[in-house]
Amino acid sequence: MTLFDHEPLFTRLNDEGYGSWADELRAETQAALTKDRHGNLQNWIDTWHQLPDAKNAKLMADRDAVTLEGELTLDEQTSLRQRLMAFHPWRKGPFEVFGQPIDTEWRSCLKWDRLAPYVEFRERQVLDVGCGNGYFGWRMIHAGAGLVLGLDPFLLFLMQFEVMRRYADPAVAHYVLPLTDEAIPQRLNAFDVTLSMGVLYHRTSPIDHLQSLWHSLRPGGTLVLETLIIESDDLTCLVPEDRYAKMRNVWFIPSTRMLKLWVQRTGFRDVQIIDVSPTTNEEQRRTAWMTFESLADFLDPADPNRTIEGHPAPVRAMILARKG
Ligand SMILES: C[S@@+](CC[C@H](N)C(=O)[O-])C[C@H]1O[C@@H](n2cnc3c(N)ncnc32)[C@H](O)[C@@H]1O
Repeated sequence: MTLFDHEPLFTRLNDEGYGSWADELRAETQAALTKDRHGNLQNWIDTWHQLPDAKNAKLMADRDAVTLEGELTLDEQTSLRQRLMAFHPWRKGPFEVFGQPIDTEWRSCLKWDRLAPYVEFRERQVLDVGCGNGYFGWRMIHAGAGLVLGLDPFLLFLMQFEVMRRYADPAVAHYVLPLTDEAIPQRLNAFDVTLSMGVLYHRTSPIDHLQSLWHSLRPGGTLVLETLIIESDDLTCLVPEDRYAKMRNVWFIPSTRMLKLWVQRTGFRDVQIIDVSPTTNEEQRRTAWMTFESLADFLDPADPNRTIEGHPAPVRAMILARKG
């Protein structure tokens, strides 16, 4: 596979009547990949080219760790860990690459297990806004999705996706573009399923974000929304005065009642909460593949029900809704 092989996606969008959107995506992607935008991009690209040409490579996403199998020479096997480490920090996963486990900060398989029983992916066209390195996309492709388009502006995560993509069957329609929800035009009406997981609380305007998700979906399409919430029966919302769990960019953490109201006001129907789970040290923790601070450092050592700033500790809700 070649790096950043997006043309099959743009051709497909063009064939399906989304030609002007394909042109916009191509132009915005080229701009985002302009090498001086991120100091490390050229290094990551160089390392990507040094990855081994495995024989009989095969990607499998039927298990917790999205796995690459294939044959490497002894030399290639020896240098593999170091090459993969060039893409540190690995946050979402886990992965296993030619026998090398990548124990990511998040065990995203737990989130997948909370989601998968509720959503039909077979033959669906899926948009994953804030997809990270595409971990969930591989799982959705395995669940039968006909197309998965992920959007994530963080170039390191795009490169982690490209590591796996390099060895995947080129016919598999799984793409990640280095773009944000702002790349979704009004009245796009294209996707059967749109996911936004772990993004809403990072947006300064959550309703604008929900509206762009609404525009992405065809009528009758399904929204999967996962976000931080506060546990309260009231119609309320936490706006942290400063940081939340050491994160600078957290703006709105609603109660589930408030979240449902936002989703309904945006125009969605049949809003259903399918899961509410506190984030645990089993799901998010420091590992050899993510050596920075993690959940344990974000909580009050004297009271794990509070963040270090004294806010309620992270609890996440997952919502399904339908575009009426
Ligand atoms: C907390 S992570 C969640 C990743 C993944 N969806 C998950 O649930 O594990 C949030 C991701 O959203 C991306 N992001 C931030 N702002 C975004 C935006 N406006 N549009 C799309 N993605 C965004 C970040 O780069 C990051 O990868």
